[in-house]
Amino acid sequence: AVERTLTILKPDCVRKELIGEVTRRIQEAGFKIVALKMTRLTKDTAGGFYAVHKERPFYNELCEFMSSGPCVPMILEKENAIEDFRTFIGATDPDEAEEGTIRADFADSVGENIIHGSDSVENGKKESNFFFAEQEVVANKA
Ligand code: CMP
Repeated sequence: AVERTLTILKPDCVRKELIGEVTRRIQEAGFKIVALKMTRLTKDTAGGFYAVHKERPFYNELCEFMSSGPCVPMILEKENAIEDFRTFIGATDPDEAEEGTIRADFADSVGENIIHGSDSVENGKKESNFFFAEQEVVANKA
């Protein structure tokens, strides 16, 4: 089925001036961008986005990092988008990420790992609603 996933080009991606390169690869891989913005999270809003990880030991570090600079959330549309995008970006830990994936090529560590991808259709919807209002999403039916 055609699905949507929410990605974030994280603050390390923006700092490394990789917005263009990563976006080019996303499009080349067949993901259609239906929403996109640059924004900066506060520590509190980052905490809200990652609320499911609240009890994890890395939660504070994660919220600090995600609010350390601007990030670029996008909603992407493609057949089987959720699974295909997670394959495309590679494992959370770049040392375990497959060669040629975004994280293998650009990520420094499990914390600073360049990019986020939703883990389910349901979470993708929640995460999309977190960043985008209805009128910011293009109804791309090409
Ligand atoms: P993401 O897919 O955005 O969702 C949760 C994030 O938590 C994950 O990417 C990692 O960047 C981060 N994370 C997971 N494990 C660790 C860890 N051990 N230390 C720091 N950050 C982590």
